[in-house]
Amino acid sequence: MAPNHPFGKDLLSAADLSAPDLIDIMARSRRMAQSDGQGGGAASNSRKIVANLFFQRSTRTKLGFEVAALRLGHRSIDAYDPERNRVGSSNGDNFPDHIRTIAQLADLLVIRHSEELKCHEVARLAPVPVINGGNGSDEHPTQALIDLFCMLEMKGSMDKLSLAISCDSRARYAYSLLLLLKHMPPKRVTYCVDPETHFSEKTQLALDGLAALGTKVSIVHDIEECLDHDVLNIQTQDLTSKVKSTLESGDLPSYVEKDPFVLTADKILKSRSDTIILNPLPRQGELDASCDALPNARYFEQVKLSSYVRMAVLERMLAGIPWTGSAAFSSA
Ligand code: CP
Repeated sequence: MAPNHPFGKDLLSAADLSAPDLIDIMARSRRMAQSDGQGGGAASNSRKIVANLFFQRSTRTKLGFEVAALRLGHRSIDAYDPERNRVGSSNGDNFPDHIRTIAQLADLLVIRHSEELKCHEVARLAPVPVINGGNGSDEHPTQALIDLFCMLEMKGSMDKLSLAISCDSRARYAYSLLLLLKHMPPKRVTYCVDPETHFSEKTQLALDGLAALGTKVSIVHDIEECLDHDVLNIQTQDLTSKVKSTLESGDLPSYVEKDPFVLTADKILKSRSDTIILNPLPRQGELDASCDALPNARYFEQVKLSSYVRMAVLERMLAGIPWTGSAAFSSA
């Protein structure tokens, strides 16, 4: 981290949060939810500017931060617009100068980029706080906070909870969630992945860490084995097409989800499951529309709850309260 940058100013990884930080964000999110997002209005003389730098497509994260800023009485601006900004053009600003410029105009930056290290570069360049809104296939810490908040709102506590996660082992939200769970370990975590999967070293370490805390950790290869859990957090098993699409800026190439990883209403009804279904969205082929009418389907409620979590994160960071987790002290 550059000199004079206070430790803990940024939220780049779920590991930036300590257990007290996590408890604080969940409590702030609860307060926001209780007032349906009306409880955080800033005094007009303390309005702040949140700058969104989304170099990858986003609906929920980008609009979520815009809505969160507005509900807190702040403002947000689009700070990456390749049609209108000078960044990247032949007579324009290079990336570092663009960030240095925006950081002088705004009070907080949110960045999504396909390159894992870009958010760390931005955090070093910017004297103001930076939030990672998704960096390649590395992390998506605010989505993980949202998922955790949903589970707490819907089930009350984590210690007796069984959680199944069905997704590509490189899913960034899932890795961030594993990092958060070490502060609130569930009773059981089941990872549903393709049999060919080799977990990355960091994911294996996170799973081993949970097991060491007493969580029963299992690996399965069929979504139907997840339907006796309290919560199933599901996403596509294939991120290859998504990554390729990002690089080529085109639409998703076709990918047919393998049947063992496709959740349908028939599978839920056949097993008489009351498992809560979450999904960070957008869905690909993993979550059939037939599920939407079932009481298990809570993924659009998850979107509603997301705005309270993003309000909580902005409220804390704009107040200058540092994160005190391990990564907050190690991003040299
Ligand atoms: N869940 C999520 O990150 O969605 P977006 O890609 O639309 O932001």
